[in-house]
Amino acid sequence: MTQRVALVTGAARGLGRAIAEELAGQGCALLAVDVLAEPLHESCVALVAAGGRCIAHVADISTRAACIAAVEAAVAAHGRLDVLVNAAGLMRFHHAGEVSEADFAKIMAVNAAAPFWLAQAALPHLVAARGNMVNVLSQSAFLGAPYIVPYSMSKAALLQMTKSLAMEYMGQPVRINAVAPGAMLTGISNETRPPADADFAAIKRYSGARPPASPAEVAAVVGFITSAAASNVHGAIWTADGGVTAG
Ligand SMILES: NC(=O)c1ccc[n+]([C@@H]2O[C@H](COP(=O)([O-])OP(=O)(O)OC[C@H]3O[C@@H](n4cnc5c(N)ncnc54)[C@H](O)[C@@H]3O)[C@@H](O)[C@H]2O)c1
Repeated sequence: MTQRVALVTGAARGLGRAIAEELAGQGCALLAVDVLAEPLHESCVALVAAGGRCIAHVADISTRAACIAAVEAAVAAHGRLDVLVNAAGLMRFHHAGEVSEADFAKIMAVNAAAPFWLAQAALPHLVAARGNMVNVLSQSAFLGAPYIVPYSMSKAALLQMTKSLAMEYMGQPVRINAVAPGAMLTGISNETRPPADADFAAIKRYSGARPPASPAEVAAVVGFITSAAASNVHGAIWTADGGVTAG
């Protein structure tokens, strides 16, 4: 059987790394992409030590050129591309009134524009391989969430990208889906804190009643959706949020 090839962004740590491990465990060869060079190399070395094939591609994906180059690197390294997982993401807590133009532009570039440019470059290869794409959203794509307005906007944009691409590619042999996690204890949630004067009762409304998930729990959902077992899953927004968006 031909070995499947997956490009995973955000693969240096957190959910992206767990997805890379999950897909390597399914026998995929990987192009692992991240802006953090050292942890990305560590992540790849660990995958190779476990018997996988992984090439580290260090890149800041916030430009179209960098996204195209990442897809080209995957195809150059492994000869094909079957799976694209857009897991890289950037989150900042701030009062809406204090969001800088630079922060807004960066969040949109990484969370919404990069997945589009990666998809644009990858889709001809994914169609040729009869492959698929998974975009990592967030519960905040659905719920009003205070102090993370640009982040929520970027994830809602990615939700619409998933559905719109799924419609545009309905007639072609490719599947396009998204997974929307709730809270996970990863770098993204450890490195930013709500404003000191935030209304914590408002934040608690989207914190959920169950404990945060491990990245591996969410990666398992991504692993299923990318697998042949999910052959009828297309245009789906699959929540993995411990029930936060249930009501
Ligand atoms: N942790 C949570 O509670 C949570 C909840 C819902 C959704 N998510 C989403 O899950 C995904 C993974 O996040 P995580 O929780 O593992 O956080 P994380 O910060 O550990 O991982 C995000 C990765 O994206 C990479 N990245 C950021 N900007 C980049 C850029 N410009 N170019 C290349 N790589 C870049 C980071 O270096 C990092 O390795 C994100 O899309 C995030 O929005 C996280």
